[in-house]
Order: sequence, then structure tokens, then C-alpha cells
Amino acid sequence: MPSQSTLQPPTAAGGFAHKHLLGVEDLSREEILLLLDTADEFKAGIVSRPGERLDTLRGRTVANLFFENSTRTRTSFEIAARRLGADVVNFDAGTSSVAKGETLVDTAETLEALGAEFIVMRHASSGACEFLLREVRGSLINAGDGAHEHPTQALLDSLTIREALGRIDGVRVAIVGDALHSRVARSVMWALTKVGAEVTLCGPPTLVPESFSTFGVRVTHDFDDAVRGAEVVYLLRIQHERMDGAYLPSLGEYRMLYGMDSERLAKIGSEVLIMHPGPVNRGVEVTRDVMHSPQSRILGQVTNGVAVRMAVLALLEQARSSGAEVA
Ligand code: CP
Repeated sequence: MPSQSTLQPPTAAGGFAHKHLLGVEDLSREEILLLLDTADEFKAGIVSRPGERLDTLRGRTVANLFFENSTRTRTSFEIAARRLGADVVNFDAGTSSVAKGETLVDTAETLEALGAEFIVMRHASSGACEFLLREVRGSLINAGDGAHEHPTQALLDSLTIREALGRIDGVRVAIVGDALHSRVARSVMWALTKVGAEVTLCGPPTLVPESFSTFGVRVTHDFDDAVRGAEVVYLLRIQHERMDGAYLPSLGEYRMLYGMDSERLAKIGSEVLIMHPGPVNRGVEVTRDVMHSPQSRILGQVTNGVAVRMAVLALLEQARSSGAEVA
């Protein structure tokens, strides 16, 4: 293991030639694996030397620009940036000049004028990052845009699966729930299928359209069919805030058909892993006892957020400072 101040991302054939991270759709299998390998290295560093800082981003400023609420993503980006030696600015849309009519572009330009080289953005609109890309000089990282993508969530989920099972290639994953409104589902489907997992997507027809098979996944509306033989069951949050119509007859019916409780878990088997990106609607997608069961990796996913976000920041920095052409 290299010394604390010199720990650097490993290099791989092809490297990581990106200035921004907007989505997993843009990444190759090799780039995803490089990100996971880098996160593994950082995780080993974090575990063995808690509280220490690297020099990777010394002198850099990371701005967290969140227009939607977040607990996990914002906090772990902040921890990740600080561990890499960066200064961090947390922008709060609610108390900013956005309330006085400042535009997204003006806000981003203002943060850059104040020295931010990395902007980590969450926004309610799909495509907000793509829009801002043309306006910023620094690196832009998508922390979730509408129902489009949440790339670092998919990377930390992939890391969690690889840690638990030793591989992703060939792993059978059932993703259950509200895929229609879920940026997490889209990014996780891109990530897992690119790295060779066999993914089944399941939920009510209103929330899991057949057209999602274009992601390279099998679509079913039958829970028992989806979880049969699965090694991982990944439960998605019901996204009340993005629903503008009657997608579900009732939460009770959803729970009965697609919710995970201890009785269902016992039927599926004691080996299957339970995952959920959070925040959880307790008692709807998953019950409290399943969340805290030995098969649950839900808090492990959160922990892996720091190492994955360190890997993203470090590889973007490495690509930027290499002088090579970056996209
Ligand atoms: N999974 C996730 O994005 O959680 P937060 O909304 O708390 O960041």
C-alpha cells in the first residue's frame, strides 16, 4: 500500500479520459472496472487510516450544487472531497440567490468565479447537467438529474455487489419497484449490464414498461418470477414526488405484490443480498427487519459511497491534469 499522501488511482489500459461524469451510459466496461478498482484502493486507505487526508485534490475546490434534497450523496461527496485534500463549498439552493431569480448558469458561473474546479450537481430536471456542460469551464459531476441518471449511485452499488460476491459478471440481479421515475434504476441497469450481470426488472406495468428491455434487461411484472434464482434483490424507492398520476391503486397493494418482508425473504433464500439506494419508504418497499437482517447491504452501500466518490474525483482530476484530450 502506498503512503497516505501519495495514494493515486491505478492506471489501466485506455485510462479514464473524461473531464465530466454525467452518466454510466457514457462509460465503457473498462472505465467502470477502473472506477471500482480505484474505489477499492481508496476504501482500503480509508479503513486503515481514518481521518487522514490525501494530497490528490490539494488546492482544488469542489462545490456541491444541490437543487434537490440529499442525505447520502451530498454528505459522501463532501467527505470524499475532503479526504482527497480539497476545499468544499456546499451550496444551498433554498437560501441562495436562486430564490431571487438567479439562473442555473449564473449560479454555476458564480461558483466557478469563486474558484470551484469541480461542480457536483443534483437537479430535478433530467438533462440539467447536459445543459450546464456547455457553460462551465471545470468538471461537472451528475449527482442525480430528474429521472435520467445517478452514476455514482450505480458505481457504489456495483462495488457493493462485487465486494459481497467477488464478481459482477454473470451475477443474477432482480431490480424491483418504480423504475419509471428512477434515475438510479437507469444508471444501475447501464452499469450492471455493461459489466456482464444478468438483470431482471420487475414491478407493476405502470412503473415498469416493457420498453425498458432496451437496457438489455428482462422485464417481468411477477415478483416470484423475478426473484427466482436471484443472487441480489435491489429494491427501488416509490418516488411519490415524481408521480403526477395514478400509477398505483394503493401502497397496500404495492406492498402485498412487490414489498420485501421477512416471510418473502425466507422463501427466496438465506444467501440472497438485499439492496436499496435509499431513502427507504419503510414498510412499503422493505420492512425494518429485512433492512437490518444479515442479508441486507443497505448501509454497506452508503459506506461505499465515499470510496466511489473519491475514485470519481481522483480519476477526473488525473484525466484533467494529464494534458490528454478529455471528453
Ligand atoms: N441514494 C441517494 O441518492 O440518496 P440521497 O437522496 O440521500 O442522496
